[in-house]
Amino acid sequence: MSANGEKLLEVQGLKTCFHTQDGVVKAVNGVSFDVRRGEALAVVGESGCGKSVTALSILNLIPDPPGKIEEGAVLFEGRNLLDLGDKEIRQVRGNNIGMIFQDPMTSLNPVFTIGSQIREPIQVHLGLPRKEAKQRAIELLEMVEIPQAEKRYKMYPHEFSGGMRQRAMIAMALSCEPMLLIADEPSTALDVTIQAQIMELIARLQHEINLAVMLITHDLGVVAGVAETVLVMYAGKVVEYAEIDRIYYNSRHPYAWSLMRSVPRLDEKREQLLTIGGLPPSLINLPPGCSFSPRCPFAEEICTQEEPPLVEVEPGHLSACHFAMDFESHGQGVED
Ligand SMILES: Nc1ncnc2c1ncn2[C@@H]1O[C@H](COP(=O)(O)OP(=O)(O)O)[C@@H](O)[C@H]1O
Ligand SMILES: [Mg+2]
Repeated sequence: MSANGEKLLEVQGLKTCFHTQDGVVKAVNGVSFDVRRGEALAVVGESGCGKSVTALSILNLIPDPPGKIEEGAVLFEGRNLLDLGDKEIRQVRGNNIGMIFQDPMTSLNPVFTIGSQIREPIQVHLGLPRKEAKQRAIELLEMVEIPQAEKRYKMYPHEFSGGMRQRAMIAMALSCEPMLLIADEPSTALDVTIQAQIMELIARLQHEINLAVMLITHDLGVVAGVAETVLVMYAGKVVEYAEIDRIYYNSRHPYAWSLMRSVPRLDEKREQLLTIGGLPPSLINLPPGCSFSPRCPFAEEICTQEEPPLVEVEPGHLSACHFAMDFESHGQGVED
């Protein structure tokens, strides 16, 4: 797509299920996408659509049981991560792919200083002596714009604000110079201003150190200015995949289109923001046909009977809607 680099990560036909007492949860149901070197991809969709399970599957972190990666491949620099042994995948997680989560408190250890938690993986993975690793850790804190880095190095997680903790997490994820950063709702728990700052930081790092980013969020509003490409997920599947401008201005899927119209925008005055009625389906009993059809304002008979294939509606732009090709007349013509 817009990024010029070669493919770094290739997710192919990924299927991950959870075997629960209530039945089989089809959390990720045939998902494919690429991330190129230095590219920022946003994975967007409502809560429960399979975004985190996709990220965890990539890193082979699905708890088994109850979870299982049933099908697919995750190629990282051409190597299938799903075939790696424990030791090898740990190396990839330590050296090649950094990951940050929504709530830094679950990943930061409250009894150790922030500095030591950044320094130690540097010592282990990069083999640097303690003193140099400390220097590197302080540089990383500066890189993520933590003021007075040397002083903060000695502080504990509870002495940091939410935004600062998330910056520290990013520093930790970058400590081993990964090529890919997977950020799962990195700003969701933060207030709007801090959220924007974290997004700016991620965008800056992406450009400065040519970092590939997979940014997971339920909020399409936060990805503008960060992501080049957007993957929209619904009920465990990809429903639309395109460059961000295509999603914003020429969406070809009613779900992505509704999501986009539910984002407040500065450049347009809307009397009312669109809200998407209804709830996502149960991933145990998916409706027949298109999973979005029960909520889709444009659904027709075929939508409740046949599952729409993911088709290329223009170069590099995929949509899984029976009316993707003539969405203009079918959907976007309808005024809200
Ligand atoms: N450990 C688990 N056991 C059973 N179901 C799970 C587990 N983890 C995730 N799921 C289910 O998988 C689906 C996708 O979850 P998730 O990827 O976390 O969604 P989100 O898009 O909000 O990140 C949800 O229905 C969730 O309940
Ligand atoms: Mg999630």
